[in-house]
Amino acid sequence: MKIAVTGKGGVGKTTLTALLARAFVDQGYRVLAIDADPSPCLGQALGFPAEALARLEPIARMEALIYERTGAQPGTIGGYFKLNPRVDDLPDQFSVEDRGVRLLELGAVEMGGAGCICPESAVLRALVTHLLLRRDEVVLLDLYAGVEHLGRATADSVDAMLIVVEPTRRSLGTAAQIKALALDLKLPRLFLVGSKVQTDDDRRLIEAGSPGLPVIGYLPLDEAVRQADLEGVAAYDLSPSLREVATELVLSVQRKTTELLSA
Ligand SMILES: Nc1ncnc2c1ncn2[C@@H]1O[C@H](COP(=O)(O)OP(=O)(O)OP(=O)(O)O)[C@@H](O)[C@H]1O
Ligand SMILES: [Mg+2]
Repeated sequence: MKIAVTGKGGVGKTTLTALLARAFVDQGYRVLAIDADPSPCLGQALGFPAEALARLEPIARMEALIYERTGAQPGTIGGYFKLNPRVDDLPDQFSVEDRGVRLLELGAVEMGGAGCICPESAVLRALVTHLLLRRDEVVLLDLYAGVEHLGRATADSVDAMLIVVEPTRRSLGTAAQIKALALDLKLPRLFLVGSKVQTDDDRRLIEAGSPGLPVIGYLPLDEAVRQADLEGVAAYDLSPSLREVATELVLSVQRKTTELLSA
């Protein structure tokens, strides 16, 4: 199953992705978590040990690799380079693993069809397409904002897109924009996940303000998220209640996606 996580800045995308990753592992899946944020922090949210994170380098920053694969130096625009570079060996070579989750960082490059046309984006686009199409594992893609950087080929192979919203009108407004873009890309299975939710009023605000998308679950506002960050551990390990919510969310996204796929 391939799941993309998106939403307005700061709503809790990375927190949710990390919780889902660990919950999928506990359900017996192999998980590949992809951090598409230009300033990556999924590894921290997952509680990866510092030495593993130190070994991790964003693919987009690997100049020698990009040159080797595309025949052009990163940063060049125009000119000739391979648009379909070989990438199948990259995930194993450049990811780090901790307790069943493998983590890959993409680095700061646009991936969208209409985005920048440069050697590093060619490598990243090929890589994401490869990961989404060919790997028989759960892939979680933590997108830093919107879906612009999802090209058509990648969008086609995402099974579900989760749009994270806080109980605020702004984040619901962003969800509506993301929905429009996602529909342009023909992404069919879009769901909202409420984040930092405290009260029934918060839930009602999200349900009433949803841009016509089903809400598949809610993450409570939980002090354990901040505490985990301070301690350098995963919120999943610190909070039994978050663990429970994450497990329910995994079941819910699987159920809803299967329902829609078989409809
Ligand atoms: N359920 C929660 N309970 C309490 N705090 C939370 C929760 N989820 C996220 N936060 C806090 O909100 C902030 C943003 O969270 P996070 O990094 O997960 O969001 P994001 O959407 O990935 O942000 P960005 O757009 O910067 O990538 C962090 O300080 C985090 O600790
Ligand atoms: Mg994030």
